[in-house]
Amino acid sequence: MNSSHHTALFHTPDATITSSFLQILSEIPFGGFLLALSTFVVIHSLGQQRRHGLAVWPVLGMLPSLLIAIRGNAYEWATGVLVRTNGTFTFQGPWLSNLQCVVTANPDNLKYILKTKFANFPKGEYIQGLVRDMLGHGIFSTDGEAWRHHRKRTSLQLHSAELRAAMAKSVIELTHLRLLPVLESLVNIPFDLQDVLLRLTFDNVCMITMGINLGGLSLGLPKMPFAEAFENITEVIALRFITPTALWKAMYHFGIGCEGKLKRSQKEADEFAYEVIRRRKAELSSLSGEKSRSDLLTVFMRLKDENGNAFSDEFLRDLCMNFILAGRDTSSVALAWFFWLLDQNPVVEEQILAEVRHILEDRGYGGNGEGENTLVFRPEEVKRMEYLQAALSEALRLYPSVPVDFKEVTEDEVFPDGTTLKKGIKVMYSLYSMGRMESIWGEDCREFKPERWLKDGRFVSESWSKFPAFNGGPRLCLGKEFAYYQMKFVVASIIHRYHVKVTEDEVFPDGTTLKKGIKVMYSLYSMGRMESIWGEDCREFKPERWLKDGRFVSESWSKFPAFNGGPRLCLGKEFAYYQMKFVVASIIHRYHVKVFPNHLVVPKLALTMYMKHGLKVILEKR
Ligand code: HEM
Repeated sequence: MNSSHHTALFHTPDATITSSFLQILSEIPFGGFLLALSTFVVIHSLGQQRRHGLAVWPVLGMLPSLLIAIRGNAYEWATGVLVRTNGTFTFQGPWLSNLQCVVTANPDNLKYILKTKFANFPKGEYIQGLVRDMLGHGIFSTDGEAWRHHRKRTSLQLHSAELRAAMAKSVIELTHLRLLPVLESLVNIPFDLQDVLLRLTFDNVCMITMGINLGGLSLGLPKMPFAEAFENITEVIALRFITPTALWKAMYHFGIGCEGKLKRSQKEADEFAYEVIRRRKAELSSLSGEKSRSDLLTVFMRLKDENGNAFSDEFLRDLCMNFILAGRDTSSVALAWFFWLLDQNPVVEEQILAEVRHILEDRGYGGNGEGENTLVFRPEEVKRMEYLQAALSEALRLYPSVPVDFKEVTEDEVFPDGTTLKKGIKVMYSLYSMGRMESIWGEDCREFKPERWLKDGRFVSESWSKFPAFNGGPRLCLGKEFAYYQMKFVVASIIHRYHVKVTEDEVFPDGTTLKKGIKVMYSLYSMGRMESIWGEDCREFKPERWLKDGRFVSESWSKFPAFNGGPRLCLGKEFAYYQMKFVVASIIHRYHVKVFPNHLVVPKLALTMYMKHGLKVILEKR
């Protein structure tokens, strides 16, 4: 595309303008020449916007626009460009960079990429290279024969009655034994719902894939090293997409910067996965474990490859990593956007509630709170929640969990819309933009309208080329059906019990609301003088309150925060006590310290509690 652009410069009306411009320049001094040249470059570059959708700068191509865009909402920016260019444009990166790429949001082009010419649009070496450290040679990071084998085996297992039953059971258990108790403990307290949902789906996919309960979704929301390592890896891999290949490879090799973090996190995640594999093998070799498990890892351990050999540990590790990636955050981020949209569209929430209640009435549930805690939605009831399915699809249309995806073209190609593609160029399709194209969804494309998915009250799916949230063609998401089931089950279980309100405010446990940005001061001085904390004698100096059977017993830091508390607890606390005790004992053993008569002792208004007039004393030798 670059070359055609340069050719055009010399054979279009631009060429005539260029030569007359140069003639004028030869007649003006050097300073003026530079100014005129800069003006020409700016006008010319900006002028390209009409033809290419974006300004094209000498040497830098379209990079400046991209750099400005990624500081804001890059998806919106790309949508704006795609709307201006009728759905497809070619991003021209800097000279000699690998940032050239065709970007499209055209359903016909997408169908061409994902189905018609599937073989010519693989993920390609470039994308595979970016994710290889994490995904090895799993289903997400392979093409051709290797992918086909993965797809066949995985599809077979995922659709088996055994695994489907295990997946449904896992959703019920995690929702009722983990999610709902955690939510109950957080009623009226602001919390990050996305974090809770991420924990839910991470625990769930680990249960389905490896048959282990990580317990990330538990009261207190504990830190989960494996989940954090996974998070770190995906974050750094996303950065690789905009980092020059040679740079991230060098950083990875030397283990520096974010690539160093990736290397350490990868090691941690691998060790965890290999340990699970080792233990499972040991468990399966003793007959007792054989029957009770039906997770993907165990199922694959019982299977043989095409040559009749057991799958290697590396294969099993890749399987786990690919599945955890697939099921980890796709459903949870979709749910987070969904609840955000519900907050802005209360009518939709009412409709969902009405649907859920209607379904419950059919089983004789009166909605009087009776059996509330034990109410578990049945699979056939979840299936009947068609309005909810429409609302979830609408959320995914506007906020697809995978907002953009990439392919590489293996031969010169021409898209149905006429865009030419040179062999080797990367192709990006923007799912986010597709949900916002009037040409696809009509004038109300930016509105959240579940009704557009309903016909006579029944949910009707859209073709994947128009709604590719779950991909399409031969690489259609293998977890689509389960993802809908999981999301519907979780939403119905939450919404039936709670109203989720989006808030920027914090609320203290005592109910005080704090507006965003307000400063909070806590007075340690006052806390030491509160009867409610220390009793009626709170103002008395009574070391005995710290002793039990003659032994010193510390108080919780929330009651006695002299050394602060929580993660920022004073690091010098122990040393400070030691130093003070040593000094006091050394002095008091030798002297009697008498405060000077009538010396005024009052605190000074400062960050540390100085005595305003110092401490005048008289020492008496013992
Ligand atoms: C709302 C939830 C989900 C969404 C939006 C979603 C979306 C997608 C997308 C866009 C792809 C194509 C990715 C690519 O090739 O670059 C994909 C592939 C895949 N998904 Fe999902 N997914 C979801 C949930 C799940 C779940 C829960 C599982 C598994 C339990 C799963 C399993 C897979 C697998 C195995 C593939 C690879 C298919 C292949 O390459 O042949 N997905 N999904």
